[in-house]
Amino acid sequence: MRFGNIILIVALCSFTAYYIYEPIPEEIEERWKLMLTNSFFRSLSHLADFSELIGLKDYMGVMYFITLAEKVVPVSDEHVKVTEEKFDGVEVVVYQPKQRGGDTELRRAVIYLHGGGWCLGSSRMSPYDLLARKMVTDLNAVVLSVEYRLAPAHHFPVPYEDVYCVVKHFLQKGVLARYSVDPGRIAVSGDSAGGNLAAAVSQQLQKDPGQQVQLKAQALLYPVLQALDLNTPSYQQNQDMPILPRTLMVRFWSEYFTSDKALFRAMMANTHNNPESSSLLKFVNWSAFLPETYHRKYNYSAPAVVQGVGGQAVGIDGPSQSFADPRASPLLVPDTALRSLPKAYILTSEYDVLRDDGIMYVTRLRAAGVEVTHEHYDTGFHGALMFTVWPTDFLIARRMTDNYVKWLKENL
Ligand SMILES: *[C@@H]1O[C@H](CO)[C@@H](O)[C@H](O)[C@H]1NC(C)=O
Ligand SMILES: *[C@@H]1O[C@H](CO)[C@@H](O)[C@H](O)[C@H]1NC(C)=O
Repeated sequence: MRFGNIILIVALCSFTAYYIYEPIPEEIEERWKLMLTNSFFRSLSHLADFSELIGLKDYMGVMYFITLAEKVVPVSDEHVKVTEEKFDGVEVVVYQPKQRGGDTELRRAVIYLHGGGWCLGSSRMSPYDLLARKMVTDLNAVVLSVEYRLAPAHHFPVPYEDVYCVVKHFLQKGVLARYSVDPGRIAVSGDSAGGNLAAAVSQQLQKDPGQQVQLKAQALLYPVLQALDLNTPSYQQNQDMPILPRTLMVRFWSEYFTSDKALFRAMMANTHNNPESSSLLKFVNWSAFLPETYHRKYNYSAPAVVQGVGGQAVGIDGPSQSFADPRASPLLVPDTALRSLPKAYILTSEYDVLRDDGIMYVTRLRAAGVEVTHEHYDTGFHGALMFTVWPTDFLIARRMTDNYVKWLKENL
């Protein structure tokens, strides 16, 4: 049975059962379709909570059903050659344009990192497979879709390190030559948690003294960029928005570092900062880095810093320090570390808890002199790019995809 049918049936049942209405803003397009889609996600989330409560299967294990249901086997077609490879031990799905006769031109490359809160998702999900094929044909690019390992089985920094290994491996001159890739035209990109990994890799790579080939561009699609302040105006405004309510984002953050529920509880209360992380709060000060229109209705107060007790409760073998690591929270670096970053495309959505993470990065990168294209969707919601397959296909997903690929075409 296709995922589409399952989603439709489960959504209809749960919808008629008790999700009669959800407060979804009027200006969101295809509102009823989004309500139905979201009722499926909410049902699954409740089921996952229940399953964890009775000790059947943990929360993320149940949520992973979404990933499984959308998995496809990536196969070659008339335009695209698809191979499943291993780069430095990490699985990668490689999409290449089929060679045309006499075509010796070097191509662009996009290293793509899927979303899913570091806990869910796969490069083999049909929306990612479709996106990769579109990039191959529209950009004549080689696309690497990285199957990094996931939390909670593999906590930070494993997912990040998997990605970094793949990028380092690919950026060797000999490897690039094998795929006919132009070393001057390589981008890293990703959505949501994938955008987090893309931003982190871009920063670490330019610091790597032995690195010869550098990235030309980074394209971050509604990225997650910081774990210090989980009460930014967008977290407050959108805490119950479809697809990614605040509780789920906090759950992803805490599970990225530890399975100890104490961190989840502290993050929910925004009291997880400790004396070490507090010195970095200045890098996510939304009163300073958001345009007036976004913070006018909210009074800034810095997150509480908990001495001892909080630190201890969440500090088993130091995971409390991890969320302040810039490889997990790329916003937490000084301007000097931003200056020589590749040019950036940043997509943000109004109805997204992560909106302000993206906007703050736009402000900070521009202040450091980095060229940034910021596309903000006034009617956008988190994860919209994933909804390109019937029956959960949304017009906004098509617009986002087209604009994003257009930017790559003009800038890569
Ligand atoms: C945040 O920025 C405002 C100015 O916009 C400043 O008054 C305040 O002291 C800053 N707070 C922190 C914790 O950096
Ligand atoms: C922000 O602070 C001002 C002045 O203290 C107060 O009048 C206003 O109600 C506060 N707004 C919010 C959203 O708390």
